[in-house]
Amino acid sequence: MRGLYAGVFLLIFQVIVAADACTVLEFTGEGFSPNVMWLLHAYPLYTMNGSFFLDSKLWPHHCKETGGGWGDFFASDQEVIDWTPEKEKAGGEVCLRQKAQHVDELLHKLGTGTEELDGMAVNKLWRFKPAVQKVVNATLRELKGLNNPTVAFHIRGGDLSADLQQNKRKPVSPQQYVDRALEAFGKKAKGGTCVILGDDHKLMGETAKIAKAKLGCAIYRRPPYYRKAGHIQSEFNKEPLAKRCAHTVQFLQDVELMTHADYFVGTFHSNLPKIIQTLRFSLLHKDKRTFADASDLKADWYERVREYFREDAKQRKGKKTMPAAYAAASQHRSLLSWLH
Ligand SMILES: *[C@@H]1O[C@H](CO)[C@@H](O)[C@H](O)[C@H]1NC(C)=O
Ligand SMILES: *[C@@H]1O[C@H](CO)[C@@H](O)[C@H](O)[C@H]1NC(C)=O
Repeated sequence: MRGLYAGVFLLIFQVIVAADACTVLEFTGEGFSPNVMWLLHAYPLYTMNGSFFLDSKLWPHHCKETGGGWGDFFASDQEVIDWTPEKEKAGGEVCLRQKAQHVDELLHKLGTGTEELDGMAVNKLWRFKPAVQKVVNATLRELKGLNNPTVAFHIRGGDLSADLQQNKRKPVSPQQYVDRALEAFGKKAKGGTCVILGDDHKLMGETAKIAKAKLGCAIYRRPPYYRKAGHIQSEFNKEPLAKRCAHTVQFLQDVELMTHADYFVGTFHSNLPKIIQTLRFSLLHKDKRTFADASDLKADWYERVREYFREDAKQRKGKKTMPAAYAAASQHRSLLSWLH
């Protein structure tokens, strides 16, 4: 009998302990997208273990000097709590502190893919504060007023171009973005409006010109990025708080345009299109054929399907070209393995 009491007591004790557990995810001084990617991976994992705090001291996207961050923009501030030492103390437990590298290690250990986790996370977390939602609504109303189809382009220069050059990888050219839209979407993407988003003024201008000529689209632009040559993270981090805050809201408006446009072209060299992909597919349930990766990898989900049918069509036209690209790639992956 005594053993039973002890057992019950231990059980109650454990339940109480579990309820008090907590995790603090640490954001870095890197940009919006890499940090939010980690958050989306991490959220469905660590909420298994009590409260989830976000320490965004180093993150430049704030509207308050202290204690803000996620909750300055998102209404999901009960799900992701902006960390302060006082809030952690009030919970009565020292939280487990995790950095991006710990999230990666945990994902590796569990063998879970990130796509499902990210999908779960955006459904819980992607809700804006009313003030942000209001300007987002105004932007989306403008999008609705544009001629269809709307094709959003994310043209990222700045420190991403520098980064790629340093790693001897070729940045995607304006021509490549437009060609990719045509290749992936065909004539369905023609004759509407091209929504040109991003940071580098020159690259965006060139893309607009080529898009207009090749897709026959009208051009829609947003207020230009404050820095002509594009976004440099270390420079952005030095800007005054009010400017970083306002810029983040403007950036979220761009994000929503990319999410809601009929078609989207970006590159997986940058993290933002990975988030856009999740928002389009998991939140809005958009057709996966409407998203294209313009990088050399063409790593968007639908490309292998497109490629298979393109090669087939070529063969039927009597061209003696072997479906070489497809055959080489499929040595590693069977048809079934990429269909499920
Ligand atoms: C759960 O949280 C507690 C701190 O509250 C921590 O000690 C423990 O390691 C966490 N467990 C996991 C699996 O993360
Ligand atoms: C934004 O638009 C949605 C849908 O049209 C509406 O339900 C919501 O109330 C609007 N929010 C704000 C803050 O204007």
